[in-house]
Amino acid sequence: MRRPVIILNKERHSSRLEGFYRRGLNDRVEILADWAELSAAETALLAESIGAEQADAMIENAVGRFALPLGIGANFLINGRNYLVPMAVEEPSVVAAVSFGALLARAGGGFSAGSTQPVMIAQIQLLDVRDPSKAEKEILAASEQILACAETSPSLTRLGGGPQGLEVRHLPDTPAGPMLVVHILIDCRDAMGANAANTAAEAVAPLLERVTGGRAGLRILSNLSDRRRAWAEVKIPASAFDGDEYPGRDVVHQIAEASAFAYADPYRAATHNKGIFNGVDAVLLATGNDWRAVEAGAHAWAARDGQYRALTSWRVQGAAGSELLHGRLEMPLAVGTVGGATRSHPSARVALKILGLDSGVNDGGDRGRPGSRGGEVALSYKGAAGKLSKIVAAVGLAQNLAALRALATTGIQKGHMRLHARQVAVSAGAQGKAVGVIAGTLVSEGNIRVERARELLRSTGN
Ligand code: MEV
Repeated sequence: MRRPVIILNKERHSSRLEGFYRRGLNDRVEILADWAELSAAETALLAESIGAEQADAMIENAVGRFALPLGIGANFLINGRNYLVPMAVEEPSVVAAVSFGALLARAGGGFSAGSTQPVMIAQIQLLDVRDPSKAEKEILAASEQILACAETSPSLTRLGGGPQGLEVRHLPDTPAGPMLVVHILIDCRDAMGANAANTAAEAVAPLLERVTGGRAGLRILSNLSDRRRAWAEVKIPASAFDGDEYPGRDVVHQIAEASAFAYADPYRAATHNKGIFNGVDAVLLATGNDWRAVEAGAHAWAARDGQYRALTSWRVQGAAGSELLHGRLEMPLAVGTVGGATRSHPSARVALKILGLDSGVNDGGDRGRPGSRGGEVALSYKGAAGKLSKIVAAVGLAQNLAALRALATTGIQKGHMRLHARQVAVSAGAQGKAVGVIAGTLVSEGNIRVERARELLRSTGN
């Protein structure tokens, strides 16, 4: 028989789960299963993931499966809706930090987020084009025929997607001579779109050769999916940052200084953005998305003006005494909720269900729980993949906020060490309750080393 569910908040479907982290794993699973209405089979998948047979079918030379912890980023309020965010990650402090970032954002009414339409770019490289300017005109004149040829997926067209336009780019001066590059812009709806873009690129290449008299080289999507972006913003009162040692006013100014540092210095920007990807990748991984594609696109986007810069910006607004910290993240986010591992990996399907994004394509449906504030950006793509991209953007912003707040105040080592101590205790062989006990001793002694953890374990007879 199911035990009665433990409600951690007054509002039943709020994502504000006070004390969630203090619960045991089984309680947490029960709370989550109730919140997201998971069946017993779906709940079991949280622990089981894929079988050996499925692993063998997924990749070549499979020899096993590699598991990571799956955690829940709590407290998220995005466009007025509550979300519990599944995150697969090995770094101890990531989930705690992002939940804290989301809690800070909640003090300012949560995140507002938006996205462009889900348009991917398919590239066709054309070489040996005798007169590139004339060829460009000929391509543009034939664009209707080219786009019709690129329409390779009737199901995508039925859903309102498919090729939307094309553009021609000139690379006059490469080591292999001048090149023309044709971009076919394809609305991929709720698919990540790599297959749709690659198929279209291969389909139109012979036609482009005929139109230009050139030779087609590569035919492949671009991972710099700058037509498919998502963004998230927050405005948080400085008072939300008030602490015993640091007044909130100082903290928000220090966060703005950290942001300026990451804008100006690529050495800092790389670390700043790595912190953003702590959260972003964890959600992408949990939902079966291609995190390498998103990383590649975002890093290229971060360097779009010629210098690698921060993906977020933080500014202090408002008069002294009523300051607001305004943060924004915008980046290319090519994510899908249909196709590939998003549907074939059972745990990814459960993760999408937890986010309320499992109900299929483009139905506008969303089980994100209604909160106090509505108002999605009008431009936003409202399909499930658009919603996922907005959630991911909010997670990236929350993760960055938590990191900057720690860096701008006590530093990150204090919090990290507490969590690191748990890993050290596990490495030394501690299990169950002993993990917390040993970790606590390591921290209080200021001696977080495996040898010490082993000594402590031996002294307790373990
Ligand atoms: C550590 O995984 C991430 C941070 O280094 C990010 C940052 O410095 O902004 C804490």
